[in-house]
Amino acid sequence: MNNFEYFNPVKVIFGAGEVKEIGIQGKAYGKKAMLVSYTDISFYGDLFDRIHSLLHEQNIKYVDFLEVTANPTLAQARKGIEICKAEGVDFVIGIGGGSAMDCAKVIAAGVEYKAGDIAKMIAFSHNDNSQIPPTEALPTIMIPTLPATGSEMNPTAVITDEVRVRKSYVWAPDCLYPKVAIIDPTLTTSLPSYQTACGGIDTIAHILESYFNGAGGNLDLQDRMQEGVIRTVLDNLPKVLANPNDIETRGVMQWAASIALNGWLLSGTYTWAPMHQMGHVLSARFNATHGATLATMILAWMRFFAKREDNTRYEQYAQRMYGKTLLDAADEFESLLKKIGVQSHISEFGVTQEELDTLTEDVVRVSFGEDSMLGSVPAITKEDVRKIYEIAL
Ligand SMILES: [Fe+2]
Repeated sequence: MNNFEYFNPVKVIFGAGEVKEIGIQGKAYGKKAMLVSYTDISFYGDLFDRIHSLLHEQNIKYVDFLEVTANPTLAQARKGIEICKAEGVDFVIGIGGGSAMDCAKVIAAGVEYKAGDIAKMIAFSHNDNSQIPPTEALPTIMIPTLPATGSEMNPTAVITDEVRVRKSYVWAPDCLYPKVAIIDPTLTTSLPSYQTACGGIDTIAHILESYFNGAGGNLDLQDRMQEGVIRTVLDNLPKVLANPNDIETRGVMQWAASIALNGWLLSGTYTWAPMHQMGHVLSARFNATHGATLATMILAWMRFFAKREDNTRYEQYAQRMYGKTLLDAADEFESLLKKIGVQSHISEFGVTQEELDTLTEDVVRVSFGEDSMLGSVPAITKEDVRKIYEIAL
């Protein structure tokens, strides 16, 4: 495996009902909180009333910032930053899926950002040296309600620059790790089936980015851990869709999402996440759901590499996970997608043949490095990107 540093300072409080801890945990980080979540929170029932009461009990004042949408934008974050500054907010609580948690992180970092506009925080390629990552941020507490991004345990935020139609990452281990993650599976029981399914696929994709496109010598340990978590998600996803109130299984899905991207499984591997880069372009252009874009990319990636010689890790995955060839494993994965109601082809987002060149140019513009490649092992060229989108159509 590659040399690596491992660091993860996030305090995890896991279990049914543990959201009750929010006031006690928050008290350590100040007297005024901003709650960051979606424009429509009716879906959460009385959750926000409960959180308000728990904060109030600990004499923590709060301001709600309920303006986050799917694929959150810099404009949303800028507004949150202004309110934080005006209100004298001490810490930020992200409540929701990746969009809410990531927007909360960008707001927390934006309050302390001194390098100019927050658009400068975003990294767009594997050798992009123009970004200026944040070095300080307000403390954050995350309450994930959608098992998917693992944002509650990592120092990454995905955000869209809506003016330039670019969606990419802010990555800042110096300041963006949340202080506390309260992972309460009871908060996920009301998730619609489609979001649950897309979240599971996102978890799988986070691991597969490393498994398919990783490098670093002897990865036996990482491979086996990764296979174990992917198998767990593949087996438990249909169970939780069949029985949405199964708290135990909801908990398994949540913890799987957290550990998929908290550094344990990916240590010592190369993980620039090329499938995510190509998926982000689909989200930015077609507002497609993140996990669904990844479903289409995983499938196309498997079929693309089935025709290449340098596909040892893909074949290993197909054999170990499915006991099949890569093409047959891809077919089985597609059957699962159909069963769980997640798109398997990008035409289902509205993409047509005529748009493949635009999508390809977007990936080149947003994510290609100076080496004219998409960060990956083996490297993905512009022609490869076009072919993969074509297969995905
Ligand atoms: Fe993701």
